[in-house]
Amino acid sequence: MKNRQWILVKRPVGNVDDETLALRSAALPELADGESLVRNLYLSLDPTNRVWMSDMEQYLPPVALGAVMRGITVGRVVASRDPRLSVGDAVQGMGGWQDYWVAKAGEASKLRDDGQTPLTLYLGLLGMVGCTAYFGMLEIGDPQPGETVVVSAAAGAVGSLAVQLAKLRGARVIGIAGSDEKCAWLVDELGIDAAINYRSEKVHARLRELAPHGVNVYFDNTGGAILDAVLANLALNARIPLCGLISTYTATGRGAGPANYGALLVKRAMVKGFIILDYAPRFGEAIAALAKWYAEGKLKFRVDVVDGLEQAPRALGKLFDGSNQGKLIVRIAAP
Ligand SMILES: NC(=O)c1ccc[n+]([C@@H]2O[C@H](COP(=O)([O-])OP(=O)(O)OC[C@H]3O[C@@H](n4cnc5c(N)ncnc54)[C@H](OP(=O)(O)O)[C@@H]3O)[C@@H](O)[C@H]2O)c1
Repeated sequence: MKNRQWILVKRPVGNVDDETLALRSAALPELADGESLVRNLYLSLDPTNRVWMSDMEQYLPPVALGAVMRGITVGRVVASRDPRLSVGDAVQGMGGWQDYWVAKAGEASKLRDDGQTPLTLYLGLLGMVGCTAYFGMLEIGDPQPGETVVVSAAAGAVGSLAVQLAKLRGARVIGIAGSDEKCAWLVDELGIDAAINYRSEKVHARLRELAPHGVNVYFDNTGGAILDAVLANLALNARIPLCGLISTYTATGRGAGPANYGALLVKRAMVKGFIILDYAPRFGEAIAALAKWYAEGKLKFRVDVVDGLEQAPRALGKLFDGSNQGKLIVRIAAP
């Protein structure tokens, strides 16, 4: 059997282009004791994939040139020399941008495959994405009833859960997103209080109207100009869970710092950067709560599935031009 693999061949400058990755075919190795062979079914595409391609300081080593591109996958075991995994088991792990993955002992975690839960949910609501929104919003942001919460990239995977969790806490929630369709979805479908289209509206002025008493919690997914606009509208003792900086991931050169940094001092605000992997020992707690709220109809989650491993590099661009409608996933093979 041949294994198609996306290999990182050139570090991108700006957006990923046709030179960045190459699709190669490799033979599958024999399994050693403790290993299992997983057929990757779904590949999670995440903004951080672009960061992993760059040789810069980050929370994991950058992907080496010549290596298979790193990525989280859900798949099925097709051969096993690991006593804990059987053929047919659904598993999740760092399966990479490839058809098959040889998982060493302990690398693949078994999923609850009840025939009811779509496997794609494990890459979204019931995975890292859900945990990121859960701990970032509920623990770091810690919104109180009646407080004003703002979320950027609010219609995306993490953002759409973050806004709903803040609503469940009884906060007033304002989402910031890049199109009228996304803003309408946030208000009409997710039931948040207001949405701002940062491409067509002046975020600073709109926030002043919508949050005259200031922003108590800002869940930052973007950094950049949106962060500056929110910093200029903080309430006293504001909390800022710093989740991501997507406006900077494809930037070339050294970006400008926040112009309104001084607001943090004047408003006695707290910014806390977090990496969700640090919360791994507590994922069970988050996933149980998210699954319960989802089953009760209190959380909605949309998934944007692109077909074909060969589409992965192009599809990644959707995260940066905003054309993804929810959690972006590549379907590598039929489940
Ligand atoms: N800290 C952690 O451990 C952790 C874990 C997971 C994710 N994250 C971060 O969470 C954020 C969201 O990730 P996600 O997986 O949920 O992706 P996503 O929100 O589903 O997709 C990314 C969205 O970002 C928006 N965007 C792209 N470029 C932008 C720009 N220049 N300015 C403003 N918005 C822009 C686009 O929406 P619009 O149409 O609204 O522009 C796009 O749809 C990212 O920053 C990611 O790095 C952090």
